[in-house]
Amino acid sequence: MSTTSSLSVAARAAIPRRLTAPAIRDRKRGEPIVMLTAYTARMAELLDRHCDVLLVGDSLAQVIYGLPTTIPVTLDMMIAHGAAVVRGSQRALVVVDMPFGSYEESPEQAFRSAARVMQETGAGAIKLEGGETMASTIAYLTKRGIPVMAHIGLTPQAVNVLGGYAARGKGNAEYSGIMDDAIAVEAAGAFSVVIEAVVEPLADSITEAIGCPTIGIGASARCDGQVLVVDDMLGMFERNAKFVKRFDNLADRIDTAAEAYAASVRGRQFPEAQHLYKA
Ligand code: KIV
Repeated sequence: MSTTSSLSVAARAAIPRRLTAPAIRDRKRGEPIVMLTAYTARMAELLDRHCDVLLVGDSLAQVIYGLPTTIPVTLDMMIAHGAAVVRGSQRALVVVDMPFGSYEESPEQAFRSAARVMQETGAGAIKLEGGETMASTIAYLTKRGIPVMAHIGLTPQAVNVLGGYAARGKGNAEYSGIMDDAIAVEAAGAFSVVIEAVVEPLADSITEAIGCPTIGIGASARCDGQVLVVDDMLGMFERNAKFVKRFDNLADRIDTAAEAYAASVRGRQFPEAQHLYKA
């Protein structure tokens, strides 16, 4: 069996070192941070050289499992996909989402869950949803060796409290509440903050106000980085949130390829000679 330790010095030097949470934190006001979600080893392999961060998002609920919300996602699901993404990548920092119910009860519960994620996946950090309410948990985890990416603004795990996925920060109270969230999670030690679906001036003010990088999704082009769900960006779904830009239309291309395959099978044109084993 070949292992990394059996590689020559030159071959080992050719393997890029993985980005770390502190390296991402140092990117404040530097080169924009490129982040996409990934859920499988092969997708991680394809995205790795383009991305600084691969997020194993609990959006795998809808993207992979066809679930209506992220609420039913379990820690075991996140660990299985997190480990696959770590196996498929070499350079990007892998961040794994903490699923609903695995961290909100107490800092101790969050530590137990996050420690499992770090030990069983090899990921470099976790992400959790929540602002001021989660600040003591973020501080607890960070002081115990677990880098935390915070997620504020529209927090999809709170869909049943929020009543939907509408943009946030439109009224004065909500605007200043989300600003307070950003300040609290940074003070608690978060190495970066995802800001989802908030009005643009709020995203800009947060990016100005806090010392760690902001990563926007439906926020502002002036955030310190951007993230999208990879399947949205590839055009895999018919309906998308306003903030999604499709960089391809993979759903149509898959449809065309499947149609061609089906026609070849039905017409007995596939398999051809080069696909067959000789006796
Ligand atoms: O779960 C997810 O994919 C996310 C991103 C949308 C930020 O949290």
